[in-house]
Amino acid sequence: MGIVLGIESSCDETAAALVTTDRTVVAQRIASQDAEHAPYGGVVPEIAARAHAERLAPMIEAVLADGGIAPRNLDAIAATAGPGLIGGVMVGLVSAKALAMASEVPLIAINHLEGHALSPRLADPTLEFPYALLLVSGGHCQILLVEGVGRYRRLATTIDDALGEAFDKTAKILGLGFPGGPAVERLAVTGDPRAVSLPRPLLGSAEPHFSFAGLKSAVLRAKEGGNHTDADIAASFQQAALDCVIDRLKKALAGIGHVPALVVAGGVAANQAIRSALESFAAERGMRFVAPPPALCTDNAAMIAWAGCERLGQSDALDFVARPRWPLDPEAESVRGAGYKA
Ligand code: KG4
Ligand code: ZN
Repeated sequence: MGIVLGIESSCDETAAALVTTDRTVVAQRIASQDAEHAPYGGVVPEIAARAHAERLAPMIEAVLADGGIAPRNLDAIAATAGPGLIGGVMVGLVSAKALAMASEVPLIAINHLEGHALSPRLADPTLEFPYALLLVSGGHCQILLVEGVGRYRRLATTIDDALGEAFDKTAKILGLGFPGGPAVERLAVTGDPRAVSLPRPLLGSAEPHFSFAGLKSAVLRAKEGGNHTDADIAASFQQAALDCVIDRLKKALAGIGHVPALVVAGGVAANQAIRSALESFAAERGMRFVAPPPALCTDNAAMIAWAGCERLGQSDALDFVARPRWPLDPEAESVRGAGYKA
């Protein structure tokens, strides 16, 4: 059995965790920076990098102490090396390199998106490759065919905003504060999802890609119109987003053969309405549905440590450079729209 230290610092969560190859999360700590970024209504990269720099070293020490393990007894140190806000990624990667060098333990550079993509296998030992993955977070919105560790086929991506971003922007328009996803979900429960007529961008289009920019603008118009309650707007937004997700998934899966499981990961996978819609969608198609517990969906270090477990035996050079962009499927063509993301 191996044990891996995972480090995550690519956005606004500073996190460290110890995970074993038999799927035990031995110790984990996470510090959110919500309070620091809230006054600005979004993540400020410079503030994030400083906060990671202040918190990460003591957090790593604490996690090692919690697990009762000396660094030299680790089998590997796995750190997010991209994609993400580069200042924060560098803080985590440099710390991992220093510890790896001092303790003579292999460094494994992890793609943050791979952390999300493999996290369902940490939670569910019976989940085998291949599986279809809806990866929905604040920065990413993709449908992938996960064929193995390091083997990802991107079936769809967003041509503008990510789904989490659409939730965050809707929250901002409705004055719900930051981070917005959970707040929109809470308010949506009390509203009528059919009350406000909102667009479903790209619904029915031939390519399975996503677009959420138009939906966000429609939410703004609905709010400014003053004819609807915030709860009705939140519920209608969530329903429109959900309809898009299901339609795009249908299209993406139609292009490949039968896949036994549908998996959701990334911060938005914490959303209960989305989880239940996906569950019914999978059931209709005779697919298993797997969703990690919400704490494993939003950014965390256990998923990074687990990706390290999956890659145990690999060793990256200590001059591995942090990557602001790092697509899971380098062969997928770019679909450029306004605000295109890798
Ligand atoms: O994976 P994550 O923690 O960070 C990124 O890698 O982006 O995802 C954060 C995103 C944010 O946009 C947040 O609003 C969204 O996930 N999110 C949710 C919920 N919880 C988090 N969106 C909708 N409903 C939720 N319950
Ligand atoms: Zn993430």
